[in-house]
Amino acid sequence: METTHRVFVGDSRDLAAVDDDTVELVVTSPPYPMIEMWDDLFTELDPAIGDALESGAGRRAFEAMHAQLDRVWDEVERVLVDGGIACINVGDATRSVDGSFRVFSNHARVLEAFESRGFDPLPDVLWRKPTNSAAKFMGSGTLPPNAYVTLEHEYVLLFRNGGDSRSFEPGADRRYEAAYFWEERNSWFSDVWTDVQGELQHLERPDDTDIEPSDQDTDLRDRSAAYPFEIPYRLITMYSAYGDTVLDPFWGTGTTTLAAMCAGRHSIGQELESGFREVFDERVERVPSLSRSVGRARLERHREFVEQRRADGKDLSYDAVHYDTSVVTKMERELLLREVVETDTVTDGYRAVHEPLFE
Ligand SMILES: C[S@@+](CC[C@H](N)C(=O)[O-])C[C@H]1O[C@@H](n2cnc3c(N)ncnc32)[C@H](O)[C@@H]1O
Repeated sequence: METTHRVFVGDSRDLAAVDDDTVELVVTSPPYPMIEMWDDLFTELDPAIGDALESGAGRRAFEAMHAQLDRVWDEVERVLVDGGIACINVGDATRSVDGSFRVFSNHARVLEAFESRGFDPLPDVLWRKPTNSAAKFMGSGTLPPNAYVTLEHEYVLLFRNGGDSRSFEPGADRRYEAAYFWEERNSWFSDVWTDVQGELQHLERPDDTDIEPSDQDTDLRDRSAAYPFEIPYRLITMYSAYGDTVLDPFWGTGTTTLAAMCAGRHSIGQELESGFREVFDERVERVPSLSRSVGRARLERHREFVEQRRADGKDLSYDAVHYDTSVVTKMERELLLREVVETDTVTDGYRAVHEPLFE
């Protein structure tokens, strides 16, 4: 099996290279309005934003920034199939503008934007960012009432395009083979994720060892505001089937494409800054070993789960077809993980060759 991964440098307020109704899933993280690191970028998109910030008109700047994102959401609506899912990772912003501290609720504004475009909001996920900060308040001293809690979570907002869910032909292999394990479902479909820096995350590092990320890696992540690999990997596994195409209109360092490759889906990314392409060329070299490690880690975790469940005297009713293991539900029987065995650069992006992952 082969997948294609197209990457375009350009402004996603116009996704000209993507045809109507050709994408089954959107997984993305926009620049967050009112977070200072994105002020210049938003001001380039609309100079009135810089003027609003300078004159201390926080609410006007916030709205003008979201007006730029809205144009990308229009494009998302155009290219996403009926019943396709959009997963938007976004955090709120705290900021003092004109001497007054407040929160700017990006998640509420993005929710409104999607609802007004005819998307159905689905229950969302809140994930907790790791923090080293000992000071869990903002403000000064330890006297009430003028300190503020620190924002340590982000949202994955989930929307379905239109009222009807996608349908598949009965028994479709590309859906049944893309099943996730029962215990993965129980953890991934909970509304608070506290473990996104653990689990598969440590595999997304050079040499697949347990080393800490290098300063260079950390610096890159800081400058690009890359999200952890585990976020798009989970979302792609939860909300798409093999053969589907995943779009990220705020591609950054290409974490979504990396996850799509490992999950055996096609992908499309578009990014304003051309420099990130080079960064991705390095990341893509690690995809064969990363995809194998991710698949093996999932199988290993499943086996540990099976062992524990047996030890607890609980039932495991079915045998997996492709792996020497039991599973809890009939729907998991056909589950077939894939690994990337080769990647190439092609016009407009990359090609990945996949084989079934066996032990
Ligand atoms: C939060 S970062 C995304 C990081 C990405 N998820 C990753 O893992 O590397 C947002 C990205 O959107 C890009 N961007 C902002 N506005 C854009 C636009 N109008 N069109 C395309 N890309 C844009 C920024 O350059 C930045 O790389």
